[in-house]
Amino acid sequence: MIISVNNLSKSYEVYKKEPGFLGSMKSLFARRYEEIKAVEDISFKIDEGELIGFIGPNGAGKTTTLKMLSGLLYPTSGQISVLGYKPFDRKYEYLSKIALVMGQKNQLWWDLPAMETFLLNKEIYGISDSDFKENLKELTKLLDAENLIEIQVKKLSLGQRMKMELIAALIHSPKVLFLDEPTIGLDVIAQKSLRDFIKEYNQKSKATILLTSHYMKDVETLCKRVIVINKGKILFDGFLSNLIKQYSGTKNIYLTLSNIVDPSHLKDLGEIKKYEFPSLILEVKKEHVNKTVAKIMEKLPIEDITIEDQDIEDVIRDIFEGK
Ligand SMILES: Nc1ncnc2c1ncn2[C@@H]1O[C@H](COP(=O)(O)OP(=O)(O)O)[C@@H](O)[C@H]1O
Ligand SMILES: [Mg+2]
Repeated sequence: MIISVNNLSKSYEVYKKEPGFLGSMKSLFARRYEEIKAVEDISFKIDEGELIGFIGPNGAGKTTTLKMLSGLLYPTSGQISVLGYKPFDRKYEYLSKIALVMGQKNQLWWDLPAMETFLLNKEIYGISDSDFKENLKELTKLLDAENLIEIQVKKLSLGQRMKMELIAALIHSPKVLFLDEPTIGLDVIAQKSLRDFIKEYNQKSKATILLTSHYMKDVETLCKRVIVINKGKILFDGFLSNLIKQYSGTKNIYLTLSNIVDPSHLKDLGEIKKYEFPSLILEVKKEHVNKTVAKIMEKLPIEDITIEDQDIEDVIRDIFEGK
């Protein structure tokens, strides 16, 4: 067991001002605080080498959790153990075994080449010359970034910068990696190359990785197991495939029609998700799939038919909307 979280909660106290000038005056005398329960009583365990997707809508509590796990925030209540350490003790030994990478924050010096930050981290973490060389070589190769490390950071693209952020975060070979939206804002190609990197890095280094992302594609390609969080609470923890089985009550039937069919003839078959001749997608309740397919065969001029589970994206959206 590498990570163990028990009944963890975090509330923020936010100062609430009443609107307008009078509100400001009043609040000078009586400050009002509001409690925001960002994380509420969550528990989970993660084994060595797992690559887990931590997903949820904006404001769900993902970043707050990752900050507590990496020792940046003190929990309001509950216990965390990572690699046998309590993160908030912020022991050097602990900090030298983990890394937190945030897509929206950076540690690189803007005006210098990323190599300078790597060298600084080499000193901070006391990495030997030979380990440093070896890690740098390995990481730049995996990220296809050998020729970027000597370029001023501000001259790099967002995707290239993210690669440098990852090298800076991984140069000390952390055993546990917290990746908070590492692909946010990147173009599709950069997203894919980071995705490939994360996968390969996880396999090669056996590092344990907890990853949050807005892009279901990341989670789908990288993570067997997901933890779904919404409004500070865990909704699901298990295999992604089971998430779909458990939460999706429908399947999609993909049809290719050989003749145009009037939509009015499709009404009693299921929900029409998309109809652009010759392609038709119907969403049908799972228990009605057999019956519906029989009807389609009988009634519609079809050239091709396939049945698939709902897209993860749709299933997850339904969960968050409380369907
Ligand atoms: N420093 C803070 N002060 C007050 N409220 C915060 C702070 N950081 C986050 N929150 C609130 O806590 C909740 C969880 O936020 P966060 O952990 O950032 O969610 P996520 O990363 O899933 O989008 C949100 O309601 C957010 O507004
Ligand atoms: Mg966040």
